[in-house]
Amino acid sequence: MSKEFKRYLITAALPYANGPKHIGHLAGAYIPSDVYVRYLRSLGRDVVFVCGSDEHGTAIPNQALKEGTSARAIIDKYDAQIRSCFHQLGMSFDIYHRTSELIHHQTSQEIFLNLYNKGLLTEETSEQYYDEEAKAFLADRYIIGTCPKCGNLNAYGDQCERCGSTLSPRELINPRSTLSGNSPILKSTKHWYLPLQDYETWLSDWILKSHKDDWKVNVYGQCKSWIDAGLQPRAMTRDLDWGIKVPLPDAEGKVLYVWFDAPIGYISATRALFEELASGKAKYATPQSSFINPSKDGWKPYWQDNETKLVHFVGKDNIVFHCIIFPIMLHATGEYILPDNVPANEFMNLEGDKMSTSRGWSIEMHEYLADFPDKPDVLRYALLTNLPETKDSEFTWKDFQAKNNNELVAIFGNFVNRALVLTQKYFDNRVPTLGSLEEVDQKVLNDLKEFPSKIGSSIELYRFREATAHLIDLARLGNKYLAETEPWKLAKTGMTRVATILNISLQIAASLSITVEPFLPFTAEKLRGMLNFKKSKWSDAGSSDLLKDGHLLGEASLLFEKIEDEVIQAQIKKLVDSKKAMELSNQPAEPAKAEVSFDEFAKMDIRIGTVITAERVEKSKKLLKLQVDTGIDKRTVMSGIAEHFSPEDIIGKQVTILVNLAPRKIMGVESQGMILMAADKDGKLRLLQPNEAVSPGSTVS
Ligand code: MF3
Ligand code: ZN
Repeated sequence: MSKEFKRYLITAALPYANGPKHIGHLAGAYIPSDVYVRYLRSLGRDVVFVCGSDEHGTAIPNQALKEGTSARAIIDKYDAQIRSCFHQLGMSFDIYHRTSELIHHQTSQEIFLNLYNKGLLTEETSEQYYDEEAKAFLADRYIIGTCPKCGNLNAYGDQCERCGSTLSPRELINPRSTLSGNSPILKSTKHWYLPLQDYETWLSDWILKSHKDDWKVNVYGQCKSWIDAGLQPRAMTRDLDWGIKVPLPDAEGKVLYVWFDAPIGYISATRALFEELASGKAKYATPQSSFINPSKDGWKPYWQDNETKLVHFVGKDNIVFHCIIFPIMLHATGEYILPDNVPANEFMNLEGDKMSTSRGWSIEMHEYLADFPDKPDVLRYALLTNLPETKDSEFTWKDFQAKNNNELVAIFGNFVNRALVLTQKYFDNRVPTLGSLEEVDQKVLNDLKEFPSKIGSSIELYRFREATAHLIDLARLGNKYLAETEPWKLAKTGMTRVATILNISLQIAASLSITVEPFLPFTAEKLRGMLNFKKSKWSDAGSSDLLKDGHLLGEASLLFEKIEDEVIQAQIKKLVDSKKAMELSNQPAEPAKAEVSFDEFAKMDIRIGTVITAERVEKSKKLLKLQVDTGIDKRTVMSGIAEHFSPEDIIGKQVTILVNLAPRKIMGVESQGMILMAADKDGKLRLLQPNEAVSPGSTVS
């Protein structure tokens, strides 16, 4: 086992409250951190687990613009959504805070001033795009222009979404502001920078020398390449009207850079936790254990005492902020400890493609929970067995189903169920007496003893996949034991042997109820109920006498249920549909045609008519031959709509028809007019009909 610290402070990346979060986020930072923390608690360690919503940065006003609402409304909406999903998934934060809270604004400003007053921030003036009409400097996402690489007319100031290039606003051709549509001017503006390069030696001693062996290869590698490339000064302030005000007199309209304030959110959350504990009024706190010093200053040792182990759980896009920028900030203040580890995960892909909410290719937490409200643990398990710990991984619905049906149901659930049901049947639901042990029993009890430390060591090394595999192996051990000893057969000849086998099986089940808790907390609770067993200390697990002779068990029920093919098919379809829908809604409308005069327009005679007959045209997939009552006459129109409408769909329907189009011969038939249709981006045609029936011949103008 690794070194024991006096106390532990565990953080999970603060999710941006700018939209729903998906299962890739869960796999990156949240589920692993929760397993780690629950394990520490079960060891009886002093641990604080913090998280909260990241509510600043341009992502928030951007989303407000998209949804036609205010930034405040956006954070309130998504903070509530994310908070509730985390709760339903069993995330056991001691506090889930918000960076919009006053205490966070104060803490961030204090730390900024601490650095400023020590002269550790440099001031620089540079030219930035400014919208004169909106009277605002423009963040990268507020500038749109032509991509210099591929010619896309709608590239953003930081990125072209068509060719994927990273851009800076000054590279865009014909830049325009999304606020007013005008072209922005360059205006000089002052900002405060953290000179990262000044800390290079210190940083490389700390990471490259001290953490070469205990940080994950992917994390260490990213840090090394940043350091090797040479660090640059980084602006810690922005021109924006959403965020934490820069606490200086000459900083009107300026806020702290979101990556300055967000990680400080871990500190404010810890402070808020202890303030709430001290006052006895819990607003955001959901304390999971009783803390040694639940007073206002109780947060301090967690952040300031060297005997605290601080671990940041994040996804790979967050590595530089947690390993380089935030540690430099903490170090520069001279008041805070540094992370002992940042076990960042890579990304989880989905069914062969990158996961992305904006492209409709993702499984959002709230959607999963709506579709599988009673299965938070199944998702936890499917993610845990497939975490992107060393490289990107892939979630598929088929694998999700297989993990549930072949492992949770067939191994874990099956073992527990057999042990319980047989005990009910033969021993009146009481733990039977352990008799003399045969070799097979000795062996299984010895193996059982090894599991808790095997699982625990993997967790301590941040190898959660491996830990989960050990866990299911413990259930497998039990399953195999029952399959080998076949107590249901022995029951026909004598009960002493059956008693021993079931006693041992129930001891294994009790150990499972302890060891499964960090991974699948809801299952653990259910299993404890079924065993009528309260203990949850890790050190108890592995023992062969957790349940005493004669102990009365609870009521048995199924821990997991099979997931059928239809359910999986429906999820796959939902995914494909949502991607299609997103593609459509993201597609720009066709550009406008050249101008026409009113006189030109007025020459067109457009009427409402009624379709009297419709028939397919031989040898043509596209054409329908229609008889239309135009009010003026009844005439034949050849219409290219056969792929969208069958004759029955359209007979009797009112349509819009251009009646003075010069007649044309189509497939040997004279067509006298044209039916007008609405063509959607997907190419699908729809009838243009008056919103209530009108008489044939009504004019359209
Ligand atoms: N909101 C960021 C993201 O989703 C993470 C912030 S982590 C913190 O990528 F350290 F800044 F809080
Ligand atoms: Zn481009």
